[in-house]
Amino acid sequence: MTPKAKPPRKTAAKPARRIRYHVACSLDGYIADEDGGADWIVDEPGIDFKELFAQFDTFLMGRLTYEPMMRMNTTGMGMSGKEVVVVSRTLRPADHPGVTIISHDLEGRVRELRERPGKDIWLFGGGELFRSLLELGLVDTVEPAIIPVVLGAGRPFLPGPEIQRYLTLTTHRAYPSGIVWLEYEVQAPKARR
Ligand SMILES: NC(=O)c1ccc[n+]([C@@H]2O[C@H](COP(=O)([O-])OP(=O)(O)OC[C@H]3O[C@@H](n4cnc5c(N)ncnc54)[C@H](OP(=O)(O)O)[C@@H]3O)[C@@H](O)[C@H]2O)c1
Repeated sequence: MTPKAKPPRKTAAKPARRIRYHVACSLDGYIADEDGGADWIVDEPGIDFKELFAQFDTFLMGRLTYEPMMRMNTTGMGMSGKEVVVVSRTLRPADHPGVTIISHDLEGRVRELRERPGKDIWLFGGGELFRSLLELGLVDTVEPAIIPVVLGAGRPFLPGPEIQRYLTLTTHRAYPSGIVWLEYEVQAPKARR
């Protein structure tokens, strides 16, 4: 009897473009201080922000990231002419013209966004949205710029409860300011034994 040929192994289809969580993070794992502030982020002239922003045509963020940017009118910085997508169950789309609000079917809407042709999508923050998308398998890379500071408290890079995902290091760069920029690909979740 000849052995049966094994069926081809199923691999997840590559998305049209990647969702990349790129964020400045203190060494002890916070993306904002307790007041939501970011004045602990040190300057680094070696980072080419123009080139960085040019890699993306869509910015995806949670409401608590969007609102302070809107108040300080910083959504234009590097984002002008690009699509801004905000996840929120409470914002009214009519109050935010020019911005796409996702209020339901997060998985379906973000999957659809990821399958549209275009440049990569910058998951701009914050930790809460990162967590939701990580659980849904919708984060392709994690790219923290580790700032040489400890804060002791603040908004976490990834809020609880426990979740485990292994990452593959793809790039790392150290800058004179002490910033270390890491880039990881997110591995598929391991089956629990
Ligand atoms: N260091 C950096 O590079 C950096 C980058 C970005 C942000 N930040 C800072 O991080 C802080 C915000 O982060 P955060 O983690 O507190 O909040 P966040 O993820 O920005 O926003 C949380 C909000 O997003 C919506 N949301 C998240 N997951 C959702 C889901 N599954 N379904 C529906 N809506 C969902 C909810 O809005 P609703 O309550 O309206 O439903 C939720 O209250 C701010 O202080 C910001 O300045 C820092």
